[in-house]
Amino acid sequence: MSSGKRETSRPQVGSSQTPEQSSVSAGGARIPAIGFGTWKLRGDACAAAVADALAAGYRHIDTAAVYDNEEAVGEGLRRSGVPRERVFVVTKVWPDNIGEGALQRSAEQSLRRLGLADVDLLLIHWPNPRIPLAESIGALNDARSRGLARHIGVSNFGAALLRDACRLSAAPIVADQCEYHPRIDQSETLAACREEGVAFVSYSPLAKRGVLGDAAVVRAAGRHGRTPAQIVLRWHVQQGCVAIPKSADPGRIRENLSVFDFALDADEMAAISAPPAKSQPG
Ligand SMILES: NC(=O)c1ccc[n+]([C@@H]2O[C@H](COP(=O)([O-])OP(=O)(O)OC[C@H]3O[C@@H](n4cnc5c(N)ncnc54)[C@H](OP(=O)(O)O)[C@@H]3O)[C@@H](O)[C@H]2O)c1
Repeated sequence: MSSGKRETSRPQVGSSQTPEQSSVSAGGARIPAIGFGTWKLRGDACAAAVADALAAGYRHIDTAAVYDNEEAVGEGLRRSGVPRERVFVVTKVWPDNIGEGALQRSAEQSLRRLGLADVDLLLIHWPNPRIPLAESIGALNDARSRGLARHIGVSNFGAALLRDACRLSAAPIVADQCEYHPRIDQSETLAACREEGVAFVSYSPLAKRGVLGDAAVVRAAGRHGRTPAQIVLRWHVQQGCVAIPKSADPGRIRENLSVFDFALDADEMAAISAPPAKSQPG
C-alpha cells in the first residue's frame, strides 16, 4: 500500500541549468522536465525525429503501444548512440489490455518492439471502468516486480481515481500524464498529484499549437525574446510539471528544449493561466 512518504520536487529553475539537469523527482524516479512526444510520428520519420531529439539533448521519450511507433522509437534510440541508461523511456498500455495478464503481455510486447529490456516508466494509458482498478494496479505492480518497468504510473486519471490508484499500489505511482495547457483547468488533478507525491506530466502541452496566439503568451514572448512555444513550455516547467511537446521539425525540436535559461514572473504566469475560455478536462 502507498506510504504517503513519496515526494515530488519541483524542477530547479534557474539560469545555470542544462536540459539534462532539469527534472522532476517522484517516487524514486527522476523524470527529465521536457520530454519528447511521439504521437503521430511513424516509421523512419519517427526514428529520425527521436534520434534528432536525443542529439539535441532530450533524455525523455514518450510513446505508447497504441501509437504504432515503438519499433521506430527503439530504432531512433539506437541510431542516436546515446546510452540506454541515460534516456528515460515511457510507454503506455491501452485500456483494453489493463486486466491481469493482458497488461503484463502488453508490456512485454512493447519491450520487444522497442528492443529494450525494460522501460523507465509504464503507464496505464486511460482508465477502464469495466476492469476493477485494483486488478489493473496489481498487474502494473507485477510488471514492475518482474523488471519490465523501473517505475509505474497512470495517464488520464482525474484526482479521485489517482488517489485510489495510489492507495491500491504497493509501489509508488510516480506520474499522472494528463492533457494540460493554458486553456484547460487541471487544478484538482495538480493538487492531488502534489498531495500524493506524483509527478504531473502535461501532454498536448502546446494545445497542438492552439495557445501560441494567446495575447499573454505573445506578450511574454516579446518581452523575453522567446517564441510563444518556449513561453508556454516554461509556464509548465515553472509549475513543477513535466511537459512532452511533439515536433517533427529539427528547429522546433531544439526550440522546445531551450526553456531553462529564463523565467516568467508571477504576473506573466497568472496572465498565461487566465485565457478567455477555459475548459474542464474531458
Ligand atoms: N497520454 C495521452 O493520452 C496522450 C494524449 C495525447 C498526447 N500525448 C503525448 O503528448 C505528446 C504531445 O502532445 P501532442 O502531440 O498532442 O500536442 P503538442 O505537443 O501540444 O503539439 C504538437 C503540435 O505542435 C507543433 N509544434 C511543436 N513545437 C512547436 C513550436 N515550437 N512552434 C510551433 N508549433 C510547434 C507540432 O508541429 P511540428 O511537428 O510540425 O513541429 C504539432 O503540430 C504526444 O506526442 C504524446 O507523446 C499523450
